Amino acid sequence: MKVVALVPAAGSGERLGRASEEKPFLEIGGKPLLAHVLSRLSDSGRIDRIVVMVKDKYLERTRDLIRGWHIEKVQSVVPGGVTRTESVRNGIEEASPGEDELVLIHDGARPFVTGEVIERAVDLAARTGAAVVGLPCDSTIKKVSGDLTVEETPPRSGLWEAQTPQVFSSEVIREAYRAYAGGNVTDDSSLVEMSGRKVKMVKGTRDNIKITVPEDIRLAEAILAGERAE
Ligand code: CTP
Ligand code: MG
Repeated sequence: MKVVALVPAAGSGERLGRASEEKPFLEIGGKPLLAHVLSRLSDSGRIDRIVVMVKDKYLERTRDLIRGWHIEKVQSVVPGGVTRTESVRNGIEEASPGEDELVLIHDGARPFVTGEVIERAVDLAARTGAAVVGLPCDSTIKKVSGDLTVEETPPRSGLWEAQTPQVFSSEVIREAYRAYAGGNVTDDSSLVEMSGRKVKMVKGTRDNIKITVPEDIRLAEAILAGERAE
């Protein structure tokens, strides 16, 4: 099956603090965050083409980055939206995935996705229609109310933390986004779940972190140094 990758990278990086708007271009080991992400996707034999969504003002800078880092499979760079969901919706429209194509969605802020994880997720989605990469929770999670009163402690054994990539058949993701009527969702799988489809979980890696807060930059540098030492 053919696979198109959509990369939402049009966020504001607010939690990163300083130089937050520049998040896609923030260097980790001398290479911009978005270049790390796109190189890894482009290097995967499972992925055929890539569509990237960025803020309007970064369209040209992103195209330059793709040329400069010789990233081959990027088909187009298009504007994102105000929310991540809108950015992904723009990507789906631009990519216009074919009926027998899979759509892989991967955060523009997760630089350490591996070829193996991409393969596992794509192969599972090819069989089931919807696969999400994640990890079993190793902390106890509390559900709390607005005034921080603990309401519930769901058993840890059934809890997984969702990451990306998340991979869907063209039909499944189109249906989920057609039904979406606004509201706050933080991943694509939740829309698919709301549309009534079954989603399967596939194990990712601990290194597949999302660069969100300043401390993550140090962590990312350490992960990269560890990979180089291997
Ligand atoms: N994203 C996007 N369009 C938006 C919001 C987010 O494409 N309107 C992307 C981000 O660029 C990022 C991914 O979705 O690659 C995950 O979002 P997150 O980690 O929350 O990044 P930001 O939204 O940029 O950061 P923050 O929430 O701290 O502002
Ligand atoms: Mg955000």
